[in-house]
Amino acid sequence: MKVAIASDHGGVHIREEIKGLLDELQIEYMDMGCECGNGSVDYSDYAFPVAEKVVSGEVDRGILICGTGIGMSISANKVKGIRCALAHDTFSAKATREHNDTNVLAMGERVIGPGLAREIAKIWLTTEFTGGRHERRIGKIADYEEKNL
Ligand code: RB5
Repeated sequence: MKVAIASDHGGVHIREEIKGLLDELQIEYMDMGCECGNGSVDYSDYAFPVAEKVVSGEVDRGILICGTGIGMSISANKVKGIRCALAHDTFSAKATREHNDTNVLAMGERVIGPGLAREIAKIWLTTEFTGGRHERRIGKIADYEEKNL
């Protein structure tokens, strides 16, 4: 598996935490910024490139962190083929892989701490899609995208 990860200025610390987790799990990753120091940047400038790497197949999954995770998740979900979950608990992290086959995870550093973010990411990265009836449901999202976007 290969992962693309990015954050805005509001998610730098959790991004570093998750990079440590990816190293531990021996998952290859591409760090796509931000290199923002003390400055502030716009989350969409980081969400779109990560989402595009996922839909192009260059990476398998994306992880995005901002202050709330909301701006990142809204942006990523605008990209055709992306199913981005905003998850701040481990139950949702597991369920969204099993049921929604999400290919991007968004989290907010102003919402949860690094320890919980690490647990959420670990579960999300290691849980398989269940398929079955859920295949039909995500298929309907893909059909809608084909017809309307
Ligand atoms: C930046 O101040 C903040 O708005 C951003 O990190 C994020 O929370 C937006 O959804």
